[in-house]
Amino acid sequence: MTRASTRTSPPTASTSPARETAGPRGCPTTSPSGSSARTSPSAFATGRSRARTVRAVFAWYGCSSSCNGHWTGATVLRPSDRAPGLLLGDHVLLPPTVELGGNVVIHAGTVIGGEARIQDGAVIGKPIALGPHSGASRDPLPPVELGSGVTVCAGAVVVAGARIGDGAMVGDQAHVRERSVIGAGSVIGRGVAVDNDVRIGARVKIQTGCYITAFSTVEDDVFVAPGVTLTNDNTMGRHGPAHQLRGATLRRACRVGGGAVLTPGVEIGEEAFVAAGAVVIADVPARSVVMGVPARVVRDVPEEDLLERFS
Ligand SMILES: CC(C)(COP(=O)(O)OP(=O)(O)OC[C@H]1O[C@@H](n2cnc3c(N)ncnc32)[C@H](O)[C@@H]1OP(=O)(O)O)[C@@H](O)C(=O)NCCC(=O)NCCS
Repeated sequence: MTRASTRTSPPTASTSPARETAGPRGCPTTSPSGSSARTSPSAFATGRSRARTVRAVFAWYGCSSSCNGHWTGATVLRPSDRAPGLLLGDHVLLPPTVELGGNVVIHAGTVIGGEARIQDGAVIGKPIALGPHSGASRDPLPPVELGSGVTVCAGAVVVAGARIGDGAMVGDQAHVRERSVIGAGSVIGRGVAVDNDVRIGARVKIQTGCYITAFSTVEDDVFVAPGVTLTNDNTMGRHGPAHQLRGATLRRACRVGGGAVLTPGVEIGEEAFVAAGAVVIADVPARSVVMGVPARVVRDVPEEDLLERFS
């Protein structure tokens, strides 16, 4: 048994992304009493609909009205005979169609859509554990939501407060932190680290070993090649509490080549192409190809390479 101290609460405006593209679709499930329940039918639409989802889950479990959608208990884990080595927190919504590997851990309040797959050793809803000097928010987090058909691969960790859209995949040993949102159909590759407060749109591909720094935005249909590093702090920790970290913005359908490094706050324009190994220190205009250290514009992305030619 494991005890954890994280408490959860309904989402607040600060945890609601400005632009959201994915979420658990309604999936009929069977309650302990044999009745059926439905999770939020919308994509990760608004903080309000998310609160409704969480309230519905608590209602399904017969939580008293005083619960009001807030998770206030300690997150105790208990063994379950549903799969070998499975540990479950309280009030987990786990439809019968979810496929589970061995030694999966699912923390309290997690909402999982139908036909999700959770592979060996994955941890869903892990309470945050911040370093003593971390400036990241310590506010209570809502439970994790996994959409229908989501795959969380072996050894992956999804921290409390994250949301993964329908059909998305989180690769082996990948890590998705608190308040981050991953859109429908996106793929987070093996060993990718998605930091806190990241917004990732739909159909995004982030390949093996990337670091997506906190407060970044990755729009729909972006391609991020293996080993790309996004950064958000030019002071490398030498700053006061008022300092704002600046993540990157990757606009729709841009492509970032293997091993590229983006310095804090840069924006890669729509359909732009960053060559392998580039160090991007300034915004990249839409449809430009940039190369080198520091990255310079060398040409435009040709018409025949635009995404619309491939869809
Ligand atoms: C940009 C890229 C496509 C090559 O473009 P290209 O136009 O075919 O390159 P060329 O071979 O014609 O080289 C053109 C010039 O750019 C240089 N160059 C090519 N790629 C470069 C790169 N990544 N960085 C810096 N310079 C590069 C070449 O040395 C050459 O310079 P020169 O004119 O002084 O000789 C390739 O370097 C790249 O980044 N591919 C991305 C691979 C990737 O990350 N895939 C992800 C999935 S695995």
